Amino acid sequence: MTLIWPLMVLFVSIPFGQFIFFRGYLLRMASHLRRSNSPIENPHAVNTSEQPYSGTPAAPDHHHHHPILLAVFASGTGSNAEKIMDHFAEHPRIKVALVVSNKPAAGVLEKAAARNVPTLIIEKENFFRGDSYIPFLKEKGIDFIVLAGFLWKIPAALITAFPSHIVNIHPALLPKYGGKGMYGQFVHEAVIIAGEQESGITIHFVDEHYDHGGTIFQATCQLEPGDTAASLAERIHELEHAHYPAIIEQTVLKQVVKH
Ligand code: GAR
Repeated sequence: MTLIWPLMVLFVSIPFGQFIFFRGYLLRMASHLRRSNSPIENPHAVNTSEQPYSGTPAAPDHHHHHPILLAVFASGTGSNAEKIMDHFAEHPRIKVALVVSNKPAAGVLEKAAARNVPTLIIEKENFFRGDSYIPFLKEKGIDFIVLAGFLWKIPAALITAFPSHIVNIHPALLPKYGGKGMYGQFVHEAVIIAGEQESGITIHFVDEHYDHGGTIFQATCQLEPGDTAASLAERIHELEHAHYPAIIEQTVLKQVVKH
């Protein structure tokens, strides 16, 4: 009886009680083993919780990516720049590190200051010579340039310094209504005068010609009877705000290789 009783207890308890205990125990063991394995499976895993990114890139670390740094160039009110800054405010890989403008009074500068994004104003001669701000962008570690309503033609020196790393948004369906002088309301007026049924936005890579590089994305909207340049601009802005930040994100992650 002294031998049979404990054996009986064991036989009965394993299927009913202990089995559940052992099962839970084994599952916990398995998940613990998986977790402690993951840094080995993915040595470049991005850590978003323990080491939030600071303004300056950290020292080389095999377990963490450096953030990819964007410079946003804008000449006007900067509603697109604002959406872009907000989109990347909490992004684990991409950060807006600089807003560049050619106009000291541009509204975009206040929007950047309100978000603690550093700003740079470039004078005309300097911009087209390119000899001081291109080294500055490189020193700051800028990886990618986003044009958001920037009205000067991008000089060849800047394109050479950032090949396939500059994108622009144009408020029409390129190749129509692009080129010199075609910006903002002038584009919308031309679209309305031509009696177009639709307009839209084009996000494209920047090359040495105005509104010319490879198209990345287009979206369209219908023209309404009685549309003015202002009413069309409003609809175009909605399209831009809805798409530009996400397209920038995809393009940057594809084009910039950074560890
Ligand atoms: C945007 O609609 C952009 O597409 C356009 O300027 C506007 C800037 O608005 N860009 C061009 O016309 C470039 N040729 P925002 O300052 O409110 O972003």
